[in-house]
Parts: sequence; structure tokens; C-alpha cells
Amino acid sequence: MNILKFEELDSTNEYLKKVKDKKNWDLVYAIRQSKGKGRRGKKWFSDEGGAWFSINLNKDKFLDDEIYSKLPLLSGLAVLQSLKETYNEEYKIKWPNDIYVKDKKISGILLEKSDESYIIGIGVNLNLENFGEFNEIASSLKILSGKNYDIEEYIKNALSNLKKLFYRYIQGEWEIILNEINELNYLKGKKIILSDGEEDIEGLCGDIDNNGYLTVVTGKKEYKVGVGDIKIIK
Ligand code: BTN
Repeated sequence: MNILKFEELDSTNEYLKKVKDKKNWDLVYAIRQSKGKGRRGKKWFSDEGGAWFSINLNKDKFLDDEIYSKLPLLSGLAVLQSLKETYNEEYKIKWPNDIYVKDKKISGILLEKSDESYIIGIGVNLNLENFGEFNEIASSLKILSGKNYDIEEYIKNALSNLKKLFYRYIQGEWEIILNEINELNYLKGKKIILSDGEEDIEGLCGDIDNNGYLTVVTGKKEYKVGVGDIKIIK
């Protein structure tokens, strides 16, 4: 396992994708990213002060592909655990893998598949106070606590938590982990509009199910949602 540090990259995900002969848990981080990528083609604000990193996980040919479908939720929980260990607050997981605190986003994850590996791109707002156009919706540990944190220490801790969770999961602890995730489900009981690209569904969120899908109830119908963009109705 290698940890590579850069002053600046376009995107740690893009860099790691191009690395040859990657090992499990190889990690790349950058002080700043010039083209930080968010989900759905959005820009990710990546000035100095955040933890911007990507982790490689090689697809194991002895494991079913389906196993990796839980990576977004496992990664979200690992990031949340490390935030809590760094500064204790009421963090929540906004399905599938954003981390929220006091109704603002403090972390986002972009999972990408590349050849035979999964690239888990993680952005955590640690020491930032200003997020440009995202000021209204973002928060950071610095804003919460008034303090600065050691970025490398945070990243190593998140990696260690993700490894532990992944091995627990592989060893059959999914149900227990899922309960932990549902305890932290930000969307539960919230009214939302879900867009899956084709239609908009308005409904009430419930638990995350065994497949990692979000339950959304509209009238008499219960949807299990695998992908989609969620807007909370205030
Ligand atoms: C999102 O919430 O939209 C996902 C944000 C993911 C940002 C991280 S920062 C490190 C890695 N490199 C990128 O370009 N994106 C991810």
C-alpha cells in the first residue's frame, strides 16, 4: 500500500485512475485540486484546507461484483467515523454517501470504476471557511470548532476505518453495519423529490434496505431507489 502526496492535481480520482499496477488501498492526496470533480458532472470546490483524496480497491476475481455495490455506503460511514473521532458532532449520512452536519454538507464521495479497480474519491471540508459559490450549503470542521486539523492524520484515519469496515463486511457483518448506517440516516422521515433522470417522485424517505437502496413512500406505493438526485422539500 502506497500513500502519494501532491501539492496540486487536476483531480486525485483522475490521477489514481491512470496509475499502473495499483495495489489495494493505494491512496493519493493533493493539497489542492484544479478540477475537483463532484457527482453528476458537478464541480467540487478544492482549495487548500480540505482533505482531497482517492483510494484504490482492486476488484478481487474471487468476489462477486455485487459485493462492491456497498462501497458508497461503507465509504460514507468510514468518513463519518473519522470526522466523529476528530471532532465530536452529530454527523449524518445523506444517502448514498454525503455527510451532513447541522443541515450542511461537510463531505462528498465520488466512486468511479476504472478497468479492474474501484476509485473511491473523498472530499472532506476540514480547515476551510469559505467555499465560494457553495457557502450556503457547505460546512467544515473549522466552522464547527474554530480549530484547524492535521489533514494527513485525518486521511490515514479514514483509510484505516474504511479498511476495517470493508473486512467486517466481507466477513458477513453487513446487517450490523447497515443498522449503524440507518441510525445515521439523514433522510429518514424527510419529504423529498427524487429525480432519476426520467421522472420526479415526491415522497417520504424511510430506511436504507439490505441492498443499499433508499426506501421512498409515495401514497400507497413504496419505491426502492438505487440511484437518483434527491432534493429535500423544506
Ligand atoms: C460529491 O459530493 O459530489 C462528490 C465529491 C467528491 C470530491 C472528491 S475530492 C477527491 C476526489 N477527487 C475528485 O476530483 N473528486 C473527489
